[in-house]
Amino acid sequence: MLGRDRIEYKTVEQVRAMRRAGLVVADALDAVRAAAVPGATTGDLDEVAREVIAAAGATPSFLGYHGYPAVLCVSVNDEVVHGIPGSRVLAQGDVVSVDCGAVVDGWHGDSAFSTVVGEATDPADLELVETTEAAMWAGIAALATGGRLSAVGEAVEEVVDLAVAAGKNGGERYGIVEEYVGHGIGSAMHQPPEVLNYRARDRGPRLKAGMCLAIEPMLTRGSRHTQVLEDDWTVVTSDGSRAAHWEHTVAILPEGIWVLTARDGGAEALAARGVSVDALD
Ligand code: MF3
Ligand code: CO
Repeated sequence: MLGRDRIEYKTVEQVRAMRRAGLVVADALDAVRAAAVPGATTGDLDEVAREVIAAAGATPSFLGYHGYPAVLCVSVNDEVVHGIPGSRVLAQGDVVSVDCGAVVDGWHGDSAFSTVVGEATDPADLELVETTEAAMWAGIAALATGGRLSAVGEAVEEVVDLAVAAGKNGGERYGIVEEYVGHGIGSAMHQPPEVLNYRARDRGPRLKAGMCLAIEPMLTRGSRHTQVLEDDWTVVTSDGSRAAHWEHTVAILPEGIWVLTARDGGAEALAARGVSVDALD
């Protein structure tokens, strides 16, 4: 058995197996992105993901997780994460965050994106989505160069600070959510270690080949504080400000990193940040 705080180090073969799960998640999220148009319900998006995962012969990992009732988490506007899909109709200008997980042969993939439905009604919503994505890629890049896990939170916070200094969000601070964090992933969806999205004194474990980590910053246009709604799942911002969430599952390999939930392993986004990936194939 895996101890409570033991990191599960994967062989390259196991990472290859995880990649199969990761690519199913990538396919599901691509299909969901195309379906996230004004007039669609969040339940429609869940159905799309359910079909892609089933057609791939994979298993959705969220469904039934601690009683969770759906395949996706779909979080709209002030919802940060863990929104339950249903009859809610998406409208032009909504900020929607979609999180998906799948299992293949016992190995997990976990990924999320945010987007603005149709045309943005406030350009700052687009900036929120873009800054959160940039924060995620900076966190991922830090796995290649960082030495210690705390490099991820430092990189995320740096990107967020620089975005605000450059005038994003009207120059107002973004909130970096602290109650929910990234995590180790592998033969279970959530494993040690926790991956903080902010600077911390504890430098965390040394980054080593075989670690697989879900990097998932959550930003808000206001407060970093959150509440859980009566449904016991939906996490909203305490001040009603809009939020975004991006996530990828990343492997640290002997020669570098590989993003398991991105079709190109993250090559393009990471090249722009001076990091080359260690191709699995
Ligand atoms: N995918 C989420 C995460 O990134 C967890 C979803 S919880 C569930 O860690 F209950 F919806 F499955
Ligand atoms: Co996750």
